[in-house]
Amino acid sequence: GRNYLYWNGIRPELVISEPELVKEVLKNSENTFPKKKPSIFFSKLLGNGLVLLEGEKWVKHRKLANHVFHGERLKNMTPAVIASVETMLEKWKGQEGKEIEVFQEFRLLTSEVISRTAFGISYLEGEKIFAMLKELSIIMSRNNFKTSIPLINKLWKHVDMLKSEELAKGIQDCVMKIVKQREDKFVNGEADSFGNDFLGLLVNAYHDSDENNRLSMEDLVDECKTFYFAGQETVNSLLAWIVLLLATHGDWQDKARREVIDIFGNRNPDSEGISKLKTVSKLSNIPIYFVSQS
Ligand code: HEM
Repeated sequence: GRNYLYWNGIRPELVISEPELVKEVLKNSENTFPKKKPSIFFSKLLGNGLVLLEGEKWVKHRKLANHVFHGERLKNMTPAVIASVETMLEKWKGQEGKEIEVFQEFRLLTSEVISRTAFGISYLEGEKIFAMLKELSIIMSRNNFKTSIPLINKLWKHVDMLKSEELAKGIQDCVMKIVKQREDKFVNGEADSFGNDFLGLLVNAYHDSDENNRLSMEDLVDECKTFYFAGQETVNSLLAWIVLLLATHGDWQDKARREVIDIFGNRNPDSEGISKLKTVSKLSNIPIYFVSQS
């Protein structure tokens, strides 16, 4: 599409979609493009997590997160993803011929996958966190284009502000409970380390004896919020877009299905085969554009 300017309250914002310009911004070689100053509600949602961090603190947190996205670790997550997809498909079997609300189904699936792979807990254990993050994101969207006057905010708190503070506190308490469970397992001898998943890496960093590498509890909670939210909402929307686009472009759906059957037959997918899925990966790049835009 075209580049255009719009007003966010009193602030002009420029939207660019030309690939060359986008590349230039993402490279950000001269640090010309700082991250957008978050609204008060967005800060409550993600705290000082990676999405909003900059500078040295960003480098420190990013190093930790990079471990999680390492190829070998991602490969090890495949069985957990397959198990969650199988549970969903099993449920769908009884729905043949009926309408399925796929966005809702993928919400459960992505919540389950991120809970298991990053935090080592089931969806049910993380359910409260997701529900509160969702409520907070709705409040954030509702207030996206409202301009606030700082002094008035200090004297009088809008009902949305009070609710968002309550939710942020609730999320923090839930995350701290999960951290405590992980610490207790190690202390009681049920586990020989804090674990290798994202939560384990964060808890390790929280206990690091080197002050330069150590994370505060606040930072730990903020990174958990970021991973829960950034990891779930995005993939949820991506999957829903893929299904919608495949449903409306039957010829591409046939091509994708043929490719999957050619490579896997009736077997479950594995990481080696997944890397051979050329058509499917091309198709999943299209909705990424829509997801990033939202
Ligand atoms: C379709 C899937 C996804 C899309 C389209 C997507 C999109 C994005 C975009 C556009 C940003 C840049 C935000 C900014 O700087 O303003 C970002 C950053 C980030 N995303 Fe995602 N994301 C996806 C999946 C995930 C998943 C699965 C996770 C975690 C499990 C994740 C975690 C993060 C984190 C931690 C950052 C901050 C990175 C940094 O600043 O170093 N994302 N994502």
